Parts: sequence; structure tokens; C-alpha cells
Amino acid sequence: MLSIKMFSYKLFQFIILLLHLTDVNCQFALSALSLQPPISSVGSNATASCNVTYTGSTAFVLTWQIDSVDVQLYQIQHAQAPQLGGQPASGFDTSPSTTTSIVNTGDTFPMTLEIRNVNLTLNQSTVSLGCSAPGCITQAPLQIGVCQPNTASGVIATVSSSSCGFGCTVQYSCATGYTGSDVTATCQEDATFDASPTCKSQTPSALSTGEIVGIVIGCLIAVAIIIFFLIPIFCTEICCCAFSILCLSWGTKEYTAGRS
Ligand SMILES: *[C@@H]1O[C@H](CO)[C@@H](O)[C@H](O)[C@H]1NC(C)=O
Ligand SMILES: *[C@@H]1O[C@H](CO)[C@@H](O)[C@H](O)[C@H]1NC(C)=O
Ligand SMILES: *[C@@H]1O[C@H](CO)[C@@H](O)[C@H](O)[C@H]1NC(C)=O
Ligand SMILES: *[C@@H]1O[C@H](CO)[C@@H](O)[C@H](O)[C@H]1NC(C)=O
Repeated sequence: MLSIKMFSYKLFQFIILLLHLTDVNCQFALSALSLQPPISSVGSNATASCNVTYTGSTAFVLTWQIDSVDVQLYQIQHAQAPQLGGQPASGFDTSPSTTTSIVNTGDTFPMTLEIRNVNLTLNQSTVSLGCSAPGCITQAPLQIGVCQPNTASGVIATVSSSSCGFGCTVQYSCATGYTGSDVTATCQEDATFDASPTCKSQTPSALSTGEIVGIVIGCLIAVAIIIFFLIPIFCTEICCCAFSILCLSWGTKEYTAGRS
């Protein structure tokens, strides 16, 4: 038996459903689009991902685009797993993925797009995920880069290719006057090298072993002179002087005492 309360609730639900059926607005809540790595090296794969919340109830198509060109499509429908549509002939090498579970209204699920073998032509291209309704879009600029070899002073870099993309290597050695071991660095997916050179400048005033021995001997001689010659000489003089003053004062004292 339905209570009045229950009846009103069911009616309310039915009205909401009707509104949804006639809804031409965005049926998705899309999170900010994230690109991993933030900067991709030339020749690597970049991955765009988004958390999608399905707020609609009817079938709707979500489309991945690169610079407004459709690259992958999914149909999202209440109580069904997302269905991948036929891949448009876009010229981009991409691979999409999402949940294989059933999606109901209100569910949140991740969607990703792998963009393979990226090149500099794609730098600053816009990657987006959205549907046909106005405002139903989330997007981010693709950042493509190359690894920049270390050019610090004293570092000699030999690069395997002129533009250093994913997997490119650099042989580092140190210039004359600098010390450090040779390093081989490889350009990673995030457009940074996995190693860096450490070439330290040798101190120009560094003393040789001969110089150090000379200084030590010199010091020993100076100490010997002070101990065996200067101290006895000066000491004798100082003592004699002190003694004579003492004698003199005694003598004077005695003499004075005797006269008074
Ligand atoms: C890019 O993806 C393809 C296919 O999954 C894979 O064969 C290749 O090794 C990936 N490249 C890099 C740099 O990870
Ligand atoms: C999606 O949600 C998961 C779990 O909350 C979070 O770890 C991830 O960073 C989110 N991804 C994006 C692109 O917002
Ligand atoms: C860069 O990549 C795009 C898309 O994959 C491709 O159409 C284009 O020919 C590539 N450019 C170069 C110079 O390789
Ligand atoms: C990619 O584009 C950005 C912004 O225009 C620029 O700063 C960067 O140098 C470009 N990357 C390369 C490797 O040309």
C-alpha cells in the first residue's frame, strides 16, 4: 500500500526522469583533464585522463578530440558498460580506455586516452573530452618537449641525435681542469635525463706533495732556530738584565740604608 508520502516521492522521481529525458544539457560532470607526464618527450606516449560522472539517464556520446578532430568515441548509457565506437580516421595514434563495469546514473568512472609516439607538431595541441551539449567539455594543452643536455662549464656533452627525444642518450665527460666521472644519461618520457654530470673545477692553488714537504721542513727549521738559538740568547740577556737590576737595587738599598 502506498502512503501519500511515498506517492509524492514516486511522482517527484517520475518528474525528474521526465526532465532528464528532455534534457539537452550536459549529462556529464567532467573533472579537469590531466596529462601525464605534464611534458612528454618526443617519441614517447602521453596520457590524458578525466573522471567522468554520468548525471544523465539517456544514451549520450563522449568524444575524445585532438585539436577539434575526433579521435575516439564512447557511448554512455544508464545500466550499460561504456561502448567504444568505431575509430574515426583521424591520423592520430591513440588508444582509449575506461571502465568495463556497468555505469548507472550518478556513477563516476575514469576515462583515459593514450596519445602515442608524440612529436613536436603536437606541442600545444588541445586534447579534449566532451559531448555535443553546450559547455560539455574538459580540455588541456599537450606539452611536448626534448631533453636539454647539461651545458654547465667544464662539461663536455656528446648527444646521440640533434633533437634529443625519448631514449636519446648523452655521453658526458669533464674538460681539462675539471674532475668527475664520465656519465651516460638517457632522455626519459617526461623530457628529463635520468642522470647528470658532476664536473668539479680543480683548485688552481692546489699544492703539490713536494711543496707541502718543503713547507713542513721550513717550519721545522724555524722552530729549531727559535728553540736552540733565539730563546737562549734573549733569555740570557733578559735574565742578566733582571739580575743586575735586582743586584743594583739591593746594593742601592743597602747603601742608602747604611747612610741614613
Ligand atoms: C607507447 O605505447 C605503445 C603501445 O602500448 C608501446 O608499444 C610503446 O612502448 C610505448 N612507448 C613508450 C615510450 O612507452
Ligand atoms: C580521478 O579520481 C581518482 C580518485 O579520486 C584520483 O586519484 C585521480 O587523480 C582523479 N583523476 C583525475 C584526472 O582527476
Ligand atoms: C607528428 O604526429 C602527427 C600525428 O601523429 C603526424 O600526423 C605528423 O605527420 C607527425 N609529424 C612528423 C614531422 O613526424
Ligand atoms: C612547446 O611549446 C611551448 C609553448 O609555446 C614552448 O615554450 C616550447 O619551447 C615548445 N617546445 C619545444 C620543444 O619546442
